[in-house]
This record gives sequence, structure tokens and C-alpha cells, in this order.
Amino acid sequence: MPLPTNPLQMVHLGPRKKKPRQMGASMVCPSHDIKFQDLVLYILEKKMGTTRRAFLMELARRKGFRVEDELSDSITHIVAENNSGSEVLEWLQGQNHKVSSQLELLDVSWLIESMAAGTPVETTGKHQLVKRDYSANLNPELQKTPPLVIKKISQYACQRRTTLNNYNQIFTDAFEVLAENYEFRENEVFCLAFMRAASVLKSLPFTIISMKDTEGIPCLEDKVKCVIEEIIEDGESSEVKAVLNDERYQSFKLFTSVFGVGLKTSEKWFRMGYRTLNKIKLDKTLKFTPMQKAGFLYYEDLVSCVTRAEAEAVGMLVKEAVWAFLPEAFVTMTGGFRRGKKIGHDVDFLITSPGSTDEDEEQLLPKVINLWERKRVDSGKCSQQEGKTWKAIRVDLVMCPYERRAFALLGWTGSRQFERDLRRYATHERKMILDNHALYDKTKKIFLKAESEEEIFAHLGLDYIEPWERNA
Ligand code: UTP
Ligand code: MG
Repeated sequence: MPLPTNPLQMVHLGPRKKKPRQMGASMVCPSHDIKFQDLVLYILEKKMGTTRRAFLMELARRKGFRVEDELSDSITHIVAENNSGSEVLEWLQGQNHKVSSQLELLDVSWLIESMAAGTPVETTGKHQLVKRDYSANLNPELQKTPPLVIKKISQYACQRRTTLNNYNQIFTDAFEVLAENYEFRENEVFCLAFMRAASVLKSLPFTIISMKDTEGIPCLEDKVKCVIEEIIEDGESSEVKAVLNDERYQSFKLFTSVFGVGLKTSEKWFRMGYRTLNKIKLDKTLKFTPMQKAGFLYYEDLVSCVTRAEAEAVGMLVKEAVWAFLPEAFVTMTGGFRRGKKIGHDVDFLITSPGSTDEDEEQLLPKVINLWERKRVDSGKCSQQEGKTWKAIRVDLVMCPYERRAFALLGWTGSRQFERDLRRYATHERKMILDNHALYDKTKKIFLKAESEEEIFAHLGLDYIEPWERNA
């Protein structure tokens, strides 16, 4: 993204004179009243230059900001120009400055906006060069040397902490459109390349603002870098724009939004010349699966996202039904909601019960469905849409043997990219096979037991990653 053009840059400051080195702006100017006591600013000279720095310091002080000449622990806001987050972090490390999680590293646009507003404006992602709470997520070893964190990013999502705080959404949104388009075209290699790239950028504690910031970041192939470069320069990607306007992409997007419709069906409908769902629904020659029938029937409900409140309400119903048959069962919400997402396309539950038999496990889900079916009939509710007071929601129920609950919980919590990389890591780095049921050590030829997710990470020699840090 081009940096905002700055009107202050145009101000003529007169001929440059050689000044004594220590002459800070505060020494040549009368002291100004400090209006904003909570903020202590430091303006970085690097890439800004002495003159412009002195000018901005003086101006900010006149506007009531407290601006320090020297770096110190009292600084709350560091303002930089033409520097990326990683460059500022690297510079601070060179100065041996402790970077606390409270320190704001901001682009000069924040200071300029604040001076124009006459008060400090709220710091948002567009101003922040580094995510403010970034050090809170890192292990203590890495916290001591922030820039190393940036250089040592693992190619595996299971060795990165990815919260929902995405500082590179402009890039990851673009990658996800491209990945989806490659998926629709069954080009797995490019699809995976863009998914991996999106995943790694989601874990970064800073926004990429120049190509230099991409140095040392794994999973960024040339094709990916071209897209990043274009977005930095033009604010958008021409490839993404073309995909969004592509008829095949638009049709596949629409068709797969129907529950039960995948790539094969979409391909068929597209080849038949269909472009809208209405025409498809009216075609009497087409045969729909029971899932697709439900998908069309509850289309509006199912495309609208599930909220957390709805997920919690569904959770109560699931528990009530499950406990009717297995009173000791544990019912845990997994999937995106367990990772802290506020909305989802479905609600996922894992059910497990100590002491349950194979038969109990096999029969539970049919029994639950049956119970709900009977309740629906008894209450007189039908699929009637008019004046309805209910909403159809997709629920995924998984039942697993009690001894396997840790593997199932880890496997069904996601994200998909996190799971993919966990399995890839197990295979390539540990010679182990991991799935939603078990972990097998190929060298020792044994299944490794685990009572908790922490134990599985330990078997794999991985630092534990909390569910809300698995949003890869
Ligand atoms: P979801 O598709 O529900 O994704 O699968 P999500 O992360 O909850 O996001 P929403 O629902 O779109 O908001 C949840 C997890 O279950 C596992 C995957 O690891 C996925 O991350 N899963 C899903 C499987 O293991 N197998 C499946 O067939 C489906
Ligand atoms: Mg889900």
C-alpha cells in the first residue's frame, strides 16, 4: 500500500544549517503545555532524517503532545516513517530497547492525523506497524529478541501461533480467492500454495508494507510474491479482480454454497449451462441427494452465518439429547467456535463417554437424531418457511471412544490448515502418523497414548499451541 502522501512534507524549512548534534527540538523551542499526559512519543530518525524529525517533534509539542528526544522506558508510542514493523523492531533491538507488549509502533500517518484532529486518534491496524500484543503470544526465549521471531517463522502452521488478529487481511483475502479458484479448477498445487501463503501471513505480528518485509518468510512462492507486490503497489490484485468477475468462479461459488453440493455437482451444473440456483431447482430431470434437498430447502438459513449465541443454544439442545442416552457423556464444542471465532458456517461437537461400549458409540447418533425427529413431529413444526420462528443450522456431531478423545478433540478443532500441517509435520519431521483417532510412531512401531492435547503436542516434540492460536 502506498504510504499516505503527506502535506507536511512540503513545508519549506529554510536552508540546512549544521547544528550541534545534541540540539533537540525541545532545546531550541519554548516549552509547550502537555495536553495528553498518558502518551509519551518518540519519533524515529531512521529514514526520516534529522530535519523532518525535528520539524515533526516541534509541531507535535506545539499541539500538546509529549515528545522525548531520547529512547527510554517511559516511551509509549514510537512513530516512524517509511519503515516497516520488522525494520523498527530490528532498530530497537540494535538500541537494546525493551519492547513491551504495551508499546505502540506506529506509522507517521497516525501522528499527522492526530495533530490534524488536535487529539490522539485511535490507533488502528492501518497505523500499527506491529501488532500491539505481539510479544504476549511468543515464548519467553523469543521475546528477548523480537526480530528473530520474524526471521525464524516455521513452514509448519503447528509451529506458529495464529490468533484471529490478522494484520495482513488485504493479502490473505486475495490469496483465499485465488486458492478457491484453483480448487474449483482442480489445480491442487497452486491451491495449496496460496492457502499456505495465507496461513503464514495470518501468523505475522506486523503488516507487510514493502517487499523487504517478506524476506525470510517461508511458503511465499514467486507466484505469491507477485500478488503481494501488486497489492503493495496498486492496493489490489488484477488476478483477483479477474477471478471475481469470472463466470465459472461465480457459478461454482454459488453452487457450492448449497449444502451437499461439491465440485463434481457444480461442474455438472456449470457444463449444463446453469448459472442460477432457481433454474436448477426447477429442472425436473435433475436428481438431488437428501443433503442437497435440505440445502435448497433451508438455503437462506444455511448461508447466513451461525452466531456464538446460536451455537451455545444448539449446545444446550445437543447436551440435553445426548444425556438422555449417555448421562456421563462429555459434549465439547470444537471447530471454529473453540478457536474463538465469533461466527461459523456450522457448529461442531465432540461427544465421548467414559465406560461406553462399542454399541453405545454406534447407536448414540442415530438415537439423538431419532429423538429430535420425534420432537419435531410432536411439536407440529414442519419445513414450512412462512412465519417460521426457527432457524436451520448445520451441526456436526462426532462420537468417539473415550480413550481417543484427545486425538479427536485435536483433529476436530482445526483449523484445516493447522491440521494439515500437524499431520505433515508428524510425517516428515517425526516419522509418525497422526489422524483424528491416533498417533503412530513408525520407528518404534507403537501407538502413542494421550489423555490430553498437550500430551499429543509433547509426543510430537512441539510447543503447545492453544486452540485460539490455531487459526492458521
Ligand atoms: P469445519 O469445516 O466446521 O471448519 O471443520 P471450522 O474451522 O469449524 O470453520 P467454520 O465451521 O467454517 O466456521 C472443523 C474441523 O473439523 C475437522 C477439520 O480439522 C476442521 O478444521 N474436520 C472437518 C475433519 O477432520 N474432517 C472432516 O471431514 C471435516
Ligand atoms: Mg465448524
